[in-house]
Amino acid sequence: MKQYTDRELAAFGLDAQRIPKHIAIIMDGNGRWATQKGLPRAAGHRAGVNALREIIRFCSDIGVEALTLYAFSTENRKRPKEEIGVLCGLLIEYFNREIDELHANAVRIRSIGDLSWFPGAVQEAVRNAEQKTAKNAGLKLNIALNYGGRAELVSAMRRAIDAGEPLAEDTLGRYLDTADAGDVDLLIRTSGELRISNFLLWQIAYAELYFTDVKWPDFTREELLRALRDYAGRDRRFGGLKTDGVK
Ligand code: IPE
Ligand code: IPE
Ligand code: MG
Repeated sequence: MKQYTDRELAAFGLDAQRIPKHIAIIMDGNGRWATQKGLPRAAGHRAGVNALREIIRFCSDIGVEALTLYAFSTENRKRPKEEIGVLCGLLIEYFNREIDELHANAVRIRSIGDLSWFPGAVQEAVRNAEQKTAKNAGLKLNIALNYGGRAELVSAMRRAIDAGEPLAEDTLGRYLDTADAGDVDLLIRTSGELRISNFLLWQIAYAELYFTDVKWPDFTREELLRALRDYAGRDRRFGGLKTDGVK
């Protein structure tokens, strides 16, 4: 929940009127971060998890409404099973360790993607975090786990049709996993890759895109501030004519 006054935001170089409502992040580069340091990839994933706390906390404190994080894609299932095992262990550890602080900050956690593919202990840790924080009114934190934008669209269409809904843009939007977070305003990808990798295909139709070479474990609050200041200077036209800045 927003902790800072508009004046405090200004001290960070932020304009309270130009904070994105929905931020999505493709947290990429853990493996290369580790390799460059001569460490195993697992160490990169651990450092990546550690980078989360500061980012989530700051988004909550500046009044971002929704934050959607890409943690594991449908395509990541192709990785060696040892690496998947490391990631599963880190997920369980993360939820168990952070849940109390997230809850205390009124963060509402939800997973998007097909959780049923994961081992029972991962599902349990995630479901527990979702249940515990379900009624919180602060930051909506969506964690994409075994998520793919195409799979999400197919499932949304299927459910809309099963419910007898007409297939229209607004109805489909209501069946997406992120329905209550709405469209993405700012999409960030770390590690220098310039692609979307099957993340939130529908929701990013008019998102502002921000790419940085910084690898996810090094993505600090200062790096997020850079992205936010950059976003605040964008002219979002949504196909219309020039406005005086971000709406
Ligand atoms: C992102 O880091 C985390 C996941 C995809 C799970 P990577 O593991 O993709 O790191 P790089 O891209 O190989 O450096
Ligand atoms: C995207 O990163 C998925 C996550 C960050 C969870 P990848 O590392 O899997 O993407 P590609 O393979 O470089 O496109
Ligand atoms: Mg990667």
